[in-house]
Amino acid sequence: MTVILRDKAALRTWRAKVTPETRIGFVPTMGALHEGHMSLMARAREAADLVIASIFVNPLQFGPNEDLSRYPRPIEADIDKLERAGVDALFLPSVEDMYPEGASTLVEETLVSGPLCGAMRPGHFRGVTTVVLKLFNLVQPHVAVFGQKDAQQCAVIERMVRDLDIPVEILRGPIVREPDGLALSSRNVYLSAEDRAAAPLIHKSLQTVAAAYQAGERDAEKLAQIGLDVLAQSDRIKVQYWEVRDPESLGAITQIGARGALLAVAAYLGATRLIDNLLLGGDA
Ligand code: PAF
Repeated sequence: MTVILRDKAALRTWRAKVTPETRIGFVPTMGALHEGHMSLMARAREAADLVIASIFVNPLQFGPNEDLSRYPRPIEADIDKLERAGVDALFLPSVEDMYPEGASTLVEETLVSGPLCGAMRPGHFRGVTTVVLKLFNLVQPHVAVFGQKDAQQCAVIERMVRDLDIPVEILRGPIVREPDGLALSSRNVYLSAEDRAAAPLIHKSLQTVAAAYQAGERDAEKLAQIGLDVLAQSDRIKVQYWEVRDPESLGAITQIGARGALLAVAAYLGATRLIDNLLLGGDA
């Protein structure tokens, strides 16, 4: 049975009872759980003795015009999924518990957070790093699993963990896709039928660029243009960025070399913003 811990006090009591030799695996989420999340739970299970998930729709990482109020919150269905997956505990705090009146401390990573989604969503990664550090402090996991779907989030958290000497191992779980290639996302439920039909072009653009890379193209600008050309096949897709970046720092590159590259795309379909990415291995 999944133990539900509804506030920090309950979590602390649970955590204090875990013996020192027990490895804790942690999967932080914002709920609306899908197969992608469940694959992260399975990854945590492989790496740890006890698995704890959190569901917390973190207001700090939403911009003023973003979807905080309409973000899906199917909590009963989520609990059911966690039960069936054999997750040991769920931390389900309220906003007031996580951010008590007068909370005025933020955690900010200042390099990897800058480009891509960071440039499009000012303050987003500061909200993520602040809540993730709080969650790490509360749960004190040995290992935490994040989805590669949010590649920049993974890179930002890995950098924060390194820079702040946080004693946790970060694992990345692979992107889980629909049969037509669309990456699973809690936001896919917002898509109209027409937008849903166009959405797989995002993955197709990544695959087309990967094929061009395999065929020998190394020029970052040319590769990004190939990706943009694929997305131009649908006028429903409004591209926010299509970038070829260093896989670790996410800095701009002109040629793909030994370090490989992260192909990263963000696009709107109607009011729904989707992201996807693909890691290209380097020449080394
Ligand atoms: O990826 C998410 O769902 C969120 O950004 C996270 C890591 C749970 C922090 O709120």
